[in-house]
Amino acid sequence: MALFLMTDPAHYEVCYQINPWMKPATWRDERDACLAAAKAASRELKAALKACGAQVETVEAARGLPDLVFPANAAVVLDGKVLLARFRHPERQGEEAIFRSAFCKLKSRGLVQEVMDLPEGLFHEGAGDAIWDLGRQLFWAGYGPRSSRGALAVLQGFFGHEVVPLQLASERYYHLDTCFCPLSGGEVLYYPPAFTEESLAAIRARVPESLRIEATDEDAAAFCVNAVNLDRRIVMAKAPAALRARLEARGYELVEVDLSPFILSGGAAYCMTLRLDRTSAPATTVLAAE
Ligand code: ARG
Repeated sequence: MALFLMTDPAHYEVCYQINPWMKPATWRDERDACLAAAKAASRELKAALKACGAQVETVEAARGLPDLVFPANAAVVLDGKVLLARFRHPERQGEEAIFRSAFCKLKSRGLVQEVMDLPEGLFHEGAGDAIWDLGRQLFWAGYGPRSSRGALAVLQGFFGHEVVPLQLASERYYHLDTCFCPLSGGEVLYYPPAFTEESLAAIRARVPESLRIEATDEDAAAFCVNAVNLDRRIVMAKAPAALRARLEARGYELVEVDLSPFILSGGAAYCMTLRLDRTSAPATTVLAAE
């Protein structure tokens, strides 16, 4: 069963701007309504994951650290190994100690096995910039706006898997998870304008055209690429009808949640969650002994 980490949104707000989507003034104007809507959206996302058969562990909220609601940025987790993040912006650096202690607690409960810090001088914003591709047995790793290129060697050494560096070309798509999402059938939903020519070539070299699903400007701006895929289901923010139709035509079922209060901070379904039980080994069918 899939296990996700989420954060209680009790102290969520948009009170600074570290990406172009963040609108502190909009939040301030409607603070109470925005917070109520955020709490409802977070509850709905949790319910959607549970309806897909997943379990959710929740990190407590902390006043003054509103982006704690995006645990995808807390760490990269694979095979029970946790590589803790280091945030580029001072506004988020206070989250590091909280997530470290959350992972140590998960370790003491046996839910993860090993927790490691990133070497000094490097930034890495967790699963937001390191997306495991089970079928291809590799990490797709974003760098540039947030994560350092140098952190990718650490990722490769710690997890022992190939890491494909993808340089992000814009401040609007500042984490890889805003513009890139591998799906269980081998397709990759991605937004080409978010990448440099070189990184587009790296994607196209590994993903044949028939498996590339290009998100439109509208799909990307609706944060639909920032999705959680569980088998044939894809949990995402409210999707443009054409994207829904394209994914359904490929046999996926969309589970849409109105995540607009979080899009106001530049995040949606994938970044509001962190998968804890991800393993590098493809699921195998265990045959009963004769
Ligand atoms: N306001 C947050 C930031 O700029 C949003 C993070 C969204 N996370 C993500 N993995 N895309 O850091």
